[in-house]
Amino acid sequence: MLVTSALPYANGQIHLGHMLEHIQSDIFVRFQRAIGNEVYYVCADDCHGTPIMIKAHNMGITPEQLIADIGVSHKADFDGFLISYDNYYRTHSEENRKFSTEIYQKLRDKGYIKTRTISQLYDPEKNMFLPDRFVKGTCPRCGAKDQYGDNCEVCSATYDPTELKDAYSTISGAKPVLKESEHYFFDLPQFEAFLQDYIKNSGAIAPAMAHKLEEWFAQGLKQWDISRDAPYFGFEIPDAQNKYFYVWLDAPIGYMASFKNFCDRKGIDFNEFFKADSTKEMYHFIGKDILYFHSLFWPATLKGADLRLPNGVFVHGYLTVNGTKMSKSKGTFIQASTYLKHLKPECLRYYFASKLTADAVDLDLALDDFQAKINSDIVGKIVNLASRCAGFITKRFEGKLAAQVYDAELAAKIGAIAASVKQGYESRNYAEAIRAIMGLADEANRFIDREAPWVIAKQEGQEAKLQQVCTDGLNAFKAIITYLSPVLPEVYAKAQEFLNDSLNFNDAAQPLLDHTINKFTPMFTRIDPKDIEAMIEDSKQDLQAAANAAPAQPKAEAAAAAPEYEPLEPEITIDDFAKIDLRIATIIKAEHVEGAKKLLRLELDLGFEQRQVFAGIKAAYSEPSELVGKQVVVVANLKARQMKFGLSQGMVMAAGPGGTDVFLLSPDSGAKNGDRVH
Ligand code: 2FM
Ligand code: ZN
Repeated sequence: MLVTSALPYANGQIHLGHMLEHIQSDIFVRFQRAIGNEVYYVCADDCHGTPIMIKAHNMGITPEQLIADIGVSHKADFDGFLISYDNYYRTHSEENRKFSTEIYQKLRDKGYIKTRTISQLYDPEKNMFLPDRFVKGTCPRCGAKDQYGDNCEVCSATYDPTELKDAYSTISGAKPVLKESEHYFFDLPQFEAFLQDYIKNSGAIAPAMAHKLEEWFAQGLKQWDISRDAPYFGFEIPDAQNKYFYVWLDAPIGYMASFKNFCDRKGIDFNEFFKADSTKEMYHFIGKDILYFHSLFWPATLKGADLRLPNGVFVHGYLTVNGTKMSKSKGTFIQASTYLKHLKPECLRYYFASKLTADAVDLDLALDDFQAKINSDIVGKIVNLASRCAGFITKRFEGKLAAQVYDAELAAKIGAIAASVKQGYESRNYAEAIRAIMGLADEANRFIDREAPWVIAKQEGQEAKLQQVCTDGLNAFKAIITYLSPVLPEVYAKAQEFLNDSLNFNDAAQPLLDHTINKFTPMFTRIDPKDIEAMIEDSKQDLQAAANAAPAQPKAEAAAAAPEYEPLEPEITIDDFAKIDLRIATIIKAEHVEGAKKLLRLELDLGFEQRQVFAGIKAAYSEPSELVGKQVVVVANLKARQMKFGLSQGMVMAAGPGGTDVFLLSPDSGAKNGDRVH
């Protein structure tokens, strides 16, 4: 079978919301592999579209460079969370260009592509059409300012971007104009009967989701606009001039491209998987926000192109943290890499597993509960179970387990839960699997409490009993950790080493008897509440940094890829800007400062007063006398700073990166000293 997770956009960092999905799919995949199925598991970065193009432009790098850098950091995050992709690729690839083009041509030849002229908002300065999220203006319903092109965050109204009042392009600030262009459409309505049948009868879509889709059918399926005009970062449409496939056309085809790239390297027959009558299975894990794309557009695209259909589109809900939407200011918008600096990936994997069902309901990461559950379940009940028994086996029996089972009831329980564990994983009701496993852990711990090996150990002639009781305890541990292997792969690997066995999932209930184990070493440490606090603090800071900085670049490439432009600072309002009081001043004196390598001392006339400013412009203006008489712009309300050479009362504005490349700003002639700069 082929399993996928949704392809993350290559313009932002992976956060815990993404991780919910990738952990969910990874557990499914690891389970399928554990029971002996052949599974291929692929994902990729979703690289195309206007936001990525604009972001790269703002950073002064090419989109190719941006997606390369982001690709590296996404892969590192998924590795860090032990997500076992067979291939993590990108949609900006030759494989994807080829598939997208071929699929489009097939759809066109079969009459599923229509063209028509539409008019859209256009940025006359940047010469580009504006996607809704790049237009802002005043809400036509409630009058709230600075609302996005398609909906108002204040009153929740939805509207057409042309209805906004005082609209402006968020890219250039220009007033958008309406402009016509020919667009290409995928004729979705031709697939209505097919889709109705697929959604109701194929079993690929859960009934609750099919129900949701009925609303869309009731509203009537619409033709889907699959073209975008240049400039756009994507694949050019073969028979159209300067038109590109909309990112959502080639994104799901990216599942195929990633898999093809893998097949080519491994000698796997790709066509066996994608031909219309393929007997291989294909499952997509997605969030509820992209159901429409995966249950309507994607199956219709595949059908139209005579390719296979998904056997399952598995939809999950959103992640909340401490009961609310992840919030940047509360520090609960947690990036994957920030989490990993403070906590083990398996803590989150276990917590998500313990709460995930097959329903698309939202899942809350309640941080107190998270800490309590990990400490109580993994450390208190599972690892402890092993450590309570292991010492006796090692010290008293040279690591040898007993040759027979002591407690038949516990052994029966181990076997009895197998069905619910498998059923839970198979049906993506991981919470059910975890409940069954923890039920066994509770029973095993009660057994050890009752039998008290530490008491038996002091009794004479009870050697056999001691060995058997501890063997039973360790066999319960063996089953528990084997059943948990899809969730806790690293603890499982340590347990394989400790128990000196491959711990096959299908034989989890088979006791190890008359078998030598290795010395027990600690397998997991408790979560310290300080780690969680530190992660929250870090998250508050990272977001600030992320807003400003370029993505992490591999060191060697950093110099070559140094951005041509400084990244933009986070957006401010006009009120923020008004706090900065800029004034015109004339330099009346300029001189070198003894002992200062970079500074000049300037005396400025601001009209209403005179001031002294130390400016780091010496390298650029080596002849200070030439500055005298020049008008400049001064940050006049900047807190005065006591420097080694005297008090600096403000700052003179200049452009450029520094050193000899510093260029003072001057007003056009006519400005008076003391005039405010707006
Ligand atoms: O919503 C998103 O984040 C998209 N990048 C998901 C794409 S999934 C697939 F279709 F490519
Ligand atoms: Zn409104």
